[in-house]
Amino acid sequence: MIELLELTAGEQVLDLGCGTGMNFPLLQDQVGPGGRIVGIDRSADMLAQARKKATRQGWDNVILIQADATTLDPAKISTQITRAGGEALSEAALTTYALSLMQPWQAAWAHMRKLTVEQARLGVLDMQRPTGPSSVLTPLARVACWMGGADIDAHPWTALERDCTDVRATSVRGGHLQVRVGAKTSDAMGSPR
Ligand SMILES: C[S@@+](CC[C@H](N)C(=O)[O-])C[C@H]1O[C@@H](n2cnc3c(N)ncnc32)[C@H](O)[C@@H]1O
Repeated sequence: MIELLELTAGEQVLDLGCGTGMNFPLLQDQVGPGGRIVGIDRSADMLAQARKKATRQGWDNVILIQADATTLDPAKISTQITRAGGEALSEAALTTYALSLMQPWQAAWAHMRKLTVEQARLGVLDMQRPTGPSSVLTPLARVACWMGGADIDAHPWTALERDCTDVRATSVRGGHLQVRVGAKTSDAMGSPR
């Protein structure tokens, strides 16, 4: 999914529900030291691990913010991430294995859009019940999602399909992992919020 986001050096990318920063090494490869990663997560423990990772790697371009993605105030977050030129919004944003844990995930999706520039590239990676021959693994997938607190039937990528253009889709693990990347349409073109 990170490849599909087509990040370029110097861009700011938002990772919503970033957890321990598992995506950060791949994101760093793309945006480089002149870019920035903004990680938002509600868990202080997860962010502490992400912070350790950034420190260990010597990344000084990682901004970590503790906030509930469903209730955060985008204006307040923006003041925490305003760049030298005055721009706070990110050129791209992704959320991996996270929206399906958020209640209601639609609010988090709306905030992700609000924290990005017009026509930003947005990416969602999340889980569903495996399909086709892999559907025999559905009980396993359901237990794994339940244990992780995820709603396997949330299908949050459907919001991206609705609110973005140039949507690219892929899936792995028998359809269990669904990936969507697209370009954000303006609020006027997307669904009202
Ligand atoms: C399964 S982890 C995925 C972490 C990371 N995105 C990854 O791919 O490794 C889900 C993350 O979402 C965070 N999370 C869940 N609900 C949240 C919410 N309402 N607001 C912000 N973060 C939330 C959790 O704290 C956790 O770090």
